[in-house]
Amino acid sequence: MEECRKRLLAEGHSLKAGGNHESFRWFAKLEKKIIGSVSLNGINEMMKVAEVSYGVDEDFQGRGLGTIIVSMLVKKAFAETDLRKLIAYVHDKNIPSCRLLERIGFKKEGFLREHYLINGKPANEVVYGLLRAEA
Ligand SMILES: CC(C)(COP(=O)(O)OP(=O)(O)OC[C@H]1O[C@@H](n2cnc3c(N)ncnc32)[C@H](O)[C@@H]1OP(=O)(O)O)[C@@H](O)C(=O)NCCC(=O)NCCS
Repeated sequence: MEECRKRLLAEGHSLKAGGNHESFRWFAKLEKKIIGSVSLNGINEMMKVAEVSYGVDEDFQGRGLGTIIVSMLVKKAFAETDLRKLIAYVHDKNIPSCRLLERIGFKKEGFLREHYLINGKPANEVVYGLLRAEA
């Protein structure tokens, strides 16, 4: 819990305010309940590229909410920063996540073989990318 608390406190939430944050996170609320979060991390100021990650509470998955909150993140990131490109890394068996990114316009750019270790077992990772002009 303490580790989690420290990590959340270190994350920023206002892109316009700048600051020295390595990552930014926003929580998604539906009818006063937090149902997921989106974050922008791995921000490379020189290359103008950053990574998106996201999650929706299990009870709220499969209702289109993931697609909505990631679309909002993409809009916000391109509107409030000069980032050129957003990327996402997805386990190749994570079909909902791959579908979500493709629906928003992300293109599959790479396949990293046995890049993850999940419960000690190697797993493949797909790299997706979205250029500013495609958003
Ligand atoms: C990935 C995740 C954010 C998707 O959120 P969600 O709200 O369920 O997604 P949506 O309802 O917007 O659906 C997105 C797509 O996935 C599909 N989908 C959703 N649940 C699915 C399931 N159980 N099996 C297959 N496809 C599924 C939807 O049909 C949709 O595809 P479509 O546009 O072709 O119809 C959610 O599953 C999650 O939080 N997973 C755990 C964390 C995670 O994997 N994060 C991403 C790490 S890269």
